[in-house]
Amino acid sequence: MRADVIVGVQWGDEGKGKIVDMLAQRYDMVCRSQGGHNAGHTIWVDGIRYALHLIPSGVLNPKAINVIGNGVVLSPESIIEEMRQFDNLEGRLFISDKAHLNLPYHALIDQARERLKGAKAIGTTGKGIGPAYSDKINRVGHRVGELLHPMQLCETILDYFAQNRDIFDVLHIPTPDRAALLSELEGYKAQMGCYITNTTNVVWKALDDEKRILLEGAQGTMLDIDHGTYPYVTSSSTVTAGACTGLGLNPKDIGKVTGIVKAYCTRVGNGPFPSEDTTEAGVRLGKQGHEFGTTTGRARRCGWFDAVACRYASRLNGCDELALMKLDVLDGFDEIKVCVAYQCNGEVIDYLPSNLEDVTPVYETFQGWEKSEGARHFGDLPPAAQAYVKAIEEMTQTKVGMISTSPDRNDTILM
Ligand code: GDP
Ligand code: IMO
Ligand code: MG
Repeated sequence: MRADVIVGVQWGDEGKGKIVDMLAQRYDMVCRSQGGHNAGHTIWVDGIRYALHLIPSGVLNPKAINVIGNGVVLSPESIIEEMRQFDNLEGRLFISDKAHLNLPYHALIDQARERLKGAKAIGTTGKGIGPAYSDKINRVGHRVGELLHPMQLCETILDYFAQNRDIFDVLHIPTPDRAALLSELEGYKAQMGCYITNTTNVVWKALDDEKRILLEGAQGTMLDIDHGTYPYVTSSSTVTAGACTGLGLNPKDIGKVTGIVKAYCTRVGNGPFPSEDTTEAGVRLGKQGHEFGTTTGRARRCGWFDAVACRYASRLNGCDELALMKLDVLDGFDEIKVCVAYQCNGEVIDYLPSNLEDVTPVYETFQGWEKSEGARHFGDLPPAAQAYVKAIEEMTQTKVGMISTSPDRNDTILM
């Protein structure tokens, strides 16, 4: 059996949570492989809103087992808070002992560095993601498994502070008090110790037992540390390949890959966004799409579908199909623009350059439509909306397998 993948192919917030939740009904296991509580997935089930950050969206399917893999940076504080939304998850949630800890001082470092960068700030979520991954790569991080021995972990964290005192002084971050730190770590062990295990074995066993596994991406391809709009990116591998290292899978374990895209584009935080629309149309997209972040509440920047970036992302991830989300948000626009190429150094190009800072979009205009909201069959969509979907398939060279027409699980067209 192979593991299927859900991956964001824009700048995050494409609607991954809705699709994972919907598909989770058909899977035995849902796994997160990268990122941390910078992710925010909003899911509506029977009129109830769930906000998920670390726990895989499969948690809303009582039959699915949820795994947080080694590639994640985990904030114990955040996951404990998130677990309060659910009954006891023992036996339904497994957290890798090899995942890295994202502790409160990581967020302080993140926020202090952003302040020091001033105008060049990345616009991070301030959740400590970059500093936690930096510690991992620097080989000075602390792993989730160490939570099972709080006294030892407490001493290694204090050593870490002693070694980095000069840097912490500049950032005005105090060394934690020993007794308070130990009690905090003991609290984490008590509340989440039962979920910590070697998840590589859990996932391998599930594959051997022919279980159906879904890998849930966080963030999006344009935020990938290698392939996104560096340095305005997150600190993990958000592409399909990252799901392998983040769970201990090999490329042959990967099955179907579904790329999640909005019918337009958004981005939170700073950095290049060629098809951004800062006119009234962009404001209207934000309003109709309720484009406010699940994690930070920040208004998302809005713009038009970027076919060049999507084609690139589809190729990078090996997308077998796209799920086209939030088509209903385009309802009522007379005209809809799509970025089909870039102007770059006086040239028109149809590929993604390594630096997106200096490109301007070349648009093609499509006819708008009145209403797609709530449609559940392709034939129920207005002809102009059908033509828009077909054009996206052609421009991205990827089949559209699903179309979403409202936040509700049921308002989804399967092609
Ligand atoms: P994720 O991070 O990729 O899981 O996406 P978010 O949850 O951050 O943002 C997507 C938002 O769009 C959520 O508030 C969803 O409830 C909402 N949403 C998902 N699909 C649709 C859709 O087809 N139409 C509309 N109007 N909203 C949608
Ligand atoms: P989901 O999973 C949208 C963005 C931040 C910032 C950059 C770096 O909900 O799609 P970080 O805190 O990761 O160091 O911030 O990445 N970012 C996201 N944008 N959706 C997300 O997750 C994001 N996670 C991080 O806004 O620009
Ligand atoms: Mg989100």
